[in-house]
Amino acid sequence: MNVIYTVNAMQAQAREWARQGKTIALVPTMGGLHAGHGALIRRAGETADVVVVSVFVNPTQFGPGEDYERYPRDLESDCTQCAQAGADLVFAPTATDMYPAQPGVFVSEEETANTFEGASRPGHFKGVLTVVAKLFWAVQPQVAVFGRKDAQQLWLIQRMVRELNIPVQIVDVPTVREADGLALSSRNAYLSPAQRAQATCLYRALQAARQQFDAGERDAQALHATMQETIRTAPDADIDYLAIVDAERFTPVTTLSQPALALLAVRIGTTRLIDNMELAGTAKTT
Ligand code: PAJ
Repeated sequence: MNVIYTVNAMQAQAREWARQGKTIALVPTMGGLHAGHGALIRRAGETADVVVVSVFVNPTQFGPGEDYERYPRDLESDCTQCAQAGADLVFAPTATDMYPAQPGVFVSEEETANTFEGASRPGHFKGVLTVVAKLFWAVQPQVAVFGRKDAQQLWLIQRMVRELNIPVQIVDVPTVREADGLALSSRNAYLSPAQRAQATCLYRALQAARQQFDAGERDAQALHATMQETIRTAPDADIDYLAIVDAERFTPVTTLSQPALALLAVRIGTTRLIDNMELAGTAKTT
């Protein structure tokens, strides 16, 4: 697999592709690649001539005491997975190349970024939006592909692109799950076998909410209660937040009259997992 390690070399490669008239799709990741990332890379291949996967564990989106140090890092295995999914290039800059000095310029969203994930992880989305903007300028893609698994991140990136007139089309991909429903995540590797078994409570809670929604329930409190009950069946699960939001505005709803998302963040032991499901007019895969 072709790997580029610096922003300068990446920009030179992007200019060369542009000169050749080739379009570029970018799949931003933090590595620890799994089949969920694989689905994004394959989708990217359908949208452009060349596919770049960035692998960068972004320090500015981790809070103090989070898992920045122990986040899985294995570039060789990531490259194998990228090759299998049809990527053309891996962009793997070092932290000092991406942030040569203490950063003083950021991209931040001032409303939704402080709710849900942002409330639990202050500064997280400022780090995410800033690094995604930096990756866009480094790779110069026409298309960038993101997963619905991180629904709030996807929403904020769409807002950033729209409000800052960034000429990148955002393509989203449904959540890839294990056979028992657990959403694939690099953080699942932290779970013990007993915790792994309990981790299905997130999907079971979302499924229960959707069944109730499909049966006609439109009261957010009722769906909320159902999810809470399901999570409580897992002894090591501790709810961080649980919400029903309007899919367009990403704000809580009391009655579901527009497409909505059920969101949850749950700690299983010390591992924090998130998941979400669309509650729309007709049941859809998320
Ligand atoms: P990371 O957690 O590595 O995820 C990279 C991309 O893969 C994100 O768009 C995420 O939504 C998607 N993804 C993760 N698990 C998935 C699954 N089970 N199914 C479908 N897609 C999935 O998200 C980040 O990295 C970072 O915040 C990043 C955007 C790279 C900025 O640093």
